[in-house]
Amino acid sequence: MEALKGIRILDMTHVQAGPTCSQLLAWMGADVIKLESPVGDATRGQLRDVPNADSLYFTMLNCNKRSITLNMKSPEGKKVFVELLKKSDILMENFGPGVLDRFGFTWEKVHELNPRVVMGSIKGFGSSGPYADFKAYENVAQAMGGAMSTTGVPEGPPFVTGAQIGDSGTGLHLAIGLLAALEQRHRTGLGQYVEVAMMDGVMNLCRVKFRDHQRLRRQTLSEYSVPTEGLTATPRAGNDSGGGQLGNAVKCKPGGPNDYIYVVVQEAVWDALAKRVGPEVGQPELASDPRYAKIGDRRKNQNDVWRLLDEFGSNYTKRELMEILNELDVPCGPIMSTDDLANDEHVRGREMYVELDHPERGKWFNVGMPIKLSASPAQIKRSPTLGEHTGEILKEVLGWGDAEIAAMKQAGAFSK
Ligand SMILES: CC(C)(COP(=O)(O)OP(=O)(O)OC[C@H]1O[C@@H](n2cnc3c(N)ncnc32)[C@H](O)[C@@H]1OP(=O)(O)O)[C@@H](O)C(=O)NCCC(=O)NCCS
Repeated sequence: MEALKGIRILDMTHVQAGPTCSQLLAWMGADVIKLESPVGDATRGQLRDVPNADSLYFTMLNCNKRSITLNMKSPEGKKVFVELLKKSDILMENFGPGVLDRFGFTWEKVHELNPRVVMGSIKGFGSSGPYADFKAYENVAQAMGGAMSTTGVPEGPPFVTGAQIGDSGTGLHLAIGLLAALEQRHRTGLGQYVEVAMMDGVMNLCRVKFRDHQRLRRQTLSEYSVPTEGLTATPRAGNDSGGGQLGNAVKCKPGGPNDYIYVVVQEAVWDALAKRVGPEVGQPELASDPRYAKIGDRRKNQNDVWRLLDEFGSNYTKRELMEILNELDVPCGPIMSTDDLANDEHVRGREMYVELDHPERGKWFNVGMPIKLSASPAQIKRSPTLGEHTGEILKEVLGWGDAEIAAMKQAGAFSK
């Protein structure tokens, strides 16, 4: 049996941050009812690659859900919403500030209608503080949560990261909060309000940058390859490891944009690595060279270490270098392009790139479920078309008949 079987989620989320969370919970077995406006989640039509088909943006974030449309601006739509709310365990949303309140459903009202329901909200900046009224997207959160100022190289502009830490990262945080609230409900019988601000989520993921921020008050950051004297904020440091062990991206053959391997020069492996690399770069005594012998020395002279490793790496492809380094027990990883990953045996074997079918778009791929539950592995099913399950949900969850459904549709409660 799936881990969350029997948990019903009324999912008003849209775009990415909320749907990431509800898709994960659906993959764990929750019955996720995606409640959409009469025209549907805007991402259904965004960046379409197949005419008239739901976009990959939508299909990749809304698997295993059922779709119902409901006009929350009509009295009939609100009536259906209240009925569904009473039959749900979780209500979740990531509207702009105040949208749900304008519908007439504050947390207090929701709690009054169904005291057991857990409500999850994602906002750019939360419901309190000077930024509370502002909308946010991924890169706004990355900008304001400390990720951009610490990503890139010091002499270049701040950069966003490719991983969606603002949207999907916040969705993950919300999932944890919702599951904790469900657990607490077992003891109290009551739901609670779970709020995650995207800015807070990004700050949480930048925790070690705030470690370094505070260290700067007392010391320079000796592990950084860039100078840190006199700084008051954590700088951008390229591909530095950011941890106690030195690390960097090393260039490989034939020198294309992703021909790099990330190498962590762990203290324990220096001797073996230096013995393997030294002779090939004209430094047969590298392992005993006092400039690099201890981690403190290597930190001081790390740009030389990277230069030597670049020289060594340029004789090998990233895969060849991975083999060489793995034999020496050196932690390393080739820089994988999306194409590398889509065709990787390990990735396919772990069901992290799965093929699905869709009535409008045909075959397509989704990134799989990263959380592996031994007793209930995820069964990934395609995303729903707009309003695909409106009738089914009203019958099964609310016990309505065809005549009642037709009358509500006529009255404007839903579009499909
Ligand atoms: C993402 C975001 C910027 C999008 O902004 P937006 O497109 O203007 O969307 P909003 O959520 O503010 O508003 C949605 C509108 O659709 C309407 N709507 C949504 N569902 C509806 C329904 N079922 N029936 C009728 N109307 C509906 C809302 O009433 C609102 O209109 P209003 O402003 O007239 O009240 C905003 O939702 C936001 O800041 N969300 C919180 C942070 C977040 O999750 N961001 C990451 C997204 S990946």
